[in-house]
Amino acid sequence: MGRHLALVGATGAVGQEFLRVLEQRNFPFDQFTLLASKRSAGKTATFKGQTYTIQELTEESFTGVDVALFSAGGSISRTYAPAAARAGAVVVDNSSAFRMDPETPLVVPEVNPQDISRHKGIIANPNCSTIIMVVPVWPLHRLCPIERLVVSTYQAASGAGYQAMLELEEQTREALAGRPITPKVLPHRMAFNLFSHNSAINETGYNEEELKMVHETRKMFHEENIQIAATCVRVPVLRAHSESINIRFSRPVTEQEVREALASAPGVRIVDDRTANYFPMPIESSDGDDIFVGRIRQDISQPDGHGIEMFISGDQLRKGAALNAVQIAELL
Ligand code: A2P
Repeated sequence: MGRHLALVGATGAVGQEFLRVLEQRNFPFDQFTLLASKRSAGKTATFKGQTYTIQELTEESFTGVDVALFSAGGSISRTYAPAAARAGAVVVDNSSAFRMDPETPLVVPEVNPQDISRHKGIIANPNCSTIIMVVPVWPLHRLCPIERLVVSTYQAASGAGYQAMLELEEQTREALAGRPITPKVLPHRMAFNLFSHNSAINETGYNEEELKMVHETRKMFHEENIQIAATCVRVPVLRAHSESINIRFSRPVTEQEVREALASAPGVRIVDDRTANYFPMPIESSDGDDIFVGRIRQDISQPDGHGIEMFISGDQLRKGAALNAVQIAELL
């Protein structure tokens, strides 16, 4: 029997990246079904030189499907992912719908590949900022248990979807032409500006994106006690997220130990040239698979030697979304 792959949200920013990643990695399948909303039904997409017609997503879309990649938002996943699983498919879901469900594994293959095997039809792909953070942080946690982590993000427009990327380009043109700017997709002006992440803020003062970074990391690390605080910010960058990370370890850890742990860590590339003042940049981590790590240094505010600081950057659409999901599917 052949392998039937389905892609839900094929016309979106992540959906389009899925097509590129599947093609580049030569993901094995015999049949491929591309799904999106009614609006896109009948449009075509080219994959490996072949033309595919996009179909409307319905409950019946998953008959005979073995692996279904979902990237059409939480409400679509909540409605259709269980239907796909009932039809016998294994779902890799890029939305937040099932991430914190105790029955659903939440996986970054470099961190907790062993969790995949206990799936009941759905495997969740973590939040993009969380994935980008845990790829370099997990090998450090294995080097020495982390007690506390403080992260600040610099997040690209792509995390809010394809329309947000277009909006950033459009606003930049408008701003340079001196024309008025009216935000439509994201709540505030992006061009030549930045603003606190657009997710809802709860009574603690933290927004949803920040709390995802806390809870998803704890779940994947199987560490309920690791203390994490995040500040998430949108910046006028198209598709790679960057993050400033401050770590407190449970014992003194040297910069050299950190460099050695990261040098052999899968999915990590060290970009850390102090002489040239050359460090991770979103323009350079974009379109690639690796998380760039630099500014690795001892935290001078922790004189007991327990603290390390670093700055990282990784492509939100690739490792932050499509690539991680395809890597999960490859392990299935
Ligand atoms: P469509 O292009 O037909 O609206 P992004 O996050 O980049 O905005 O992409 C969202 C993806 O989710 C798109 O592929 C979009 O398809 C898809 N989508 C949105 N609403 C639905 C729906 N009701 N049924 C199926 N797919 C949907």
